[in-house]
Amino acid sequence: MDASVVVERQLLRTDPPLTSATAPVSRRAAQPGHREVAVAALLDGDERVLLVRTRKLPLHWQPPGGGVDPEDSSPVAALVREMDEELGLDLDPSSFQFEMRIKYDFGSGSVYCFSATVSPSDRMVVNSAEIAEARWFSLAEARTLPAYPATRALLDRLLASRQARSVEIGHQLVAASAIPCPVMGEVPRELSRDEIATVCAQFGAAAALAEAAGAHLVEIHAAHGYLVGGFLSPYSNVRDDEYRAVAGGQSRFLAELLDTVRSRTSLPLGLRVSVVENVDGGLDVDGLLGTLSHVRQALSFVSVSGGVYVPEGDLIIPSRLLHRMLWREQAAVLRRHLALPVLLSGNFQTLDEVEAAIADRTADMVLMVRSLLADPDWLLKWRTGQGTSVQPCINCNLCKYHTRREPHVYCPFNPELISIRRRWLGNGSRSRNRR
Ligand SMILES: Cc1cc2nc3c(=O)[nH]c(=O)nc-3n(C[C@H](O)[C@H](O)[C@H](O)COP(=O)(O)O)c2cc1C
Ligand code: SF4
Repeated sequence: MDASVVVERQLLRTDPPLTSATAPVSRRAAQPGHREVAVAALLDGDERVLLVRTRKLPLHWQPPGGGVDPEDSSPVAALVREMDEELGLDLDPSSFQFEMRIKYDFGSGSVYCFSATVSPSDRMVVNSAEIAEARWFSLAEARTLPAYPATRALLDRLLASRQARSVEIGHQLVAASAIPCPVMGEVPRELSRDEIATVCAQFGAAAALAEAAGAHLVEIHAAHGYLVGGFLSPYSNVRDDEYRAVAGGQSRFLAELLDTVRSRTSLPLGLRVSVVENVDGGLDVDGLLGTLSHVRQALSFVSVSGGVYVPEGDLIIPSRLLHRMLWREQAAVLRRHLALPVLLSGNFQTLDEVEAAIADRTADMVLMVRSLLADPDWLLKWRTGQGTSVQPCINCNLCKYHTRREPHVYCPFNPELISIRRRWLGNGSRSRNRR
């Protein structure tokens, strides 16, 4: 089979290549219930990706590939075998560019994702015993398809490295420094001093609007590495002027921002922060505490979260496999030293956990997202002694990935969200996705 495979090395950023020697497959595969899967993003020269619907999972389009068998020496070897079995493609193992490793969609294990460029004119022989349908989609189309989390993450990654995100928001990205985010891949423009003043004024105007609209408080989002958070962190702010971030030091940007907002509203004013960034040079709770202590008087509360954008190991919407009440210790540190009310989010799943965090003065209020997405009656059930019938969040991350690509958040356990999604699909989005 002449597949004329060409690897687009410039397409992907430089994760360390995963070689047969480094792939820890056989030990993992031996664990009961553990599943290792290798998939390929096969791309053509027109930026189209080949997706298949398999006999096993016919409802979703996904990249071709399959399970790593005990006799496969590595995920690469498994992929070469799968490409041959499923598509009749004879791919050279050295042609795969390692892309990423993601948590397995349906339980314990990993999905090893690679990419390679092939020509669709090559004679692919689709094995119809395994594959129900195979089709080329443009990357833009592929991103709108319903997809399992691993597929979604792979498509996101392909898009992130090819498609400028400024196209989505309609103007050039701006930030504290011209450092690209490792997920979005686009280099922002550093804000000038005049523009910083404009941004502060715009935050102030927004706060005034919120008060006029009847809001009871204002929370400024300084978490997760977005514009404000990016100014606070030496990871993303290496300016050579007085707005440069110094771990634990005063942030001139934050001081000016809070002053401006305070001048436009008398509402309680809080700050949502990442207590751990978990990246080289990123903030930890001690550095953050130092910075916040300089603006403590301007604040009415602190809202605790964690993480910035990273390709793997996201802490913003943390895996349920990380421990419960994830930021509890850091929240307690901020609460103790700043003497401010603390709102705390991150992996709370039972009412006992919530009550414990309040009782031991870790936090004054607990915020929850996924527990309530998975079961909107969560609180009612716990309060009426039916806690054991709560539908737990199963860490599938569908809410996370659907939020990026669809207009509504989604959870497969929430009946109302299911019907909203069905209505949306029925209103033409599905037909738009079909070629
Ligand atoms: C679908 C979804 C969307 C989210 N959007 C935001 C957001 O816009 N701003 C934010 O600060 N946090 C956002 N988060 C993070 C949550 O606020 C929360 O910190 C995180 O999910 C951990 O809480 P949980 O374990 O209760 O879900 C989002 C989380 C989910 C699941
Ligand atoms: S989609 Fe539902 S079950 Fe899955 S992670 Fe989100 S809240 Fe949890």
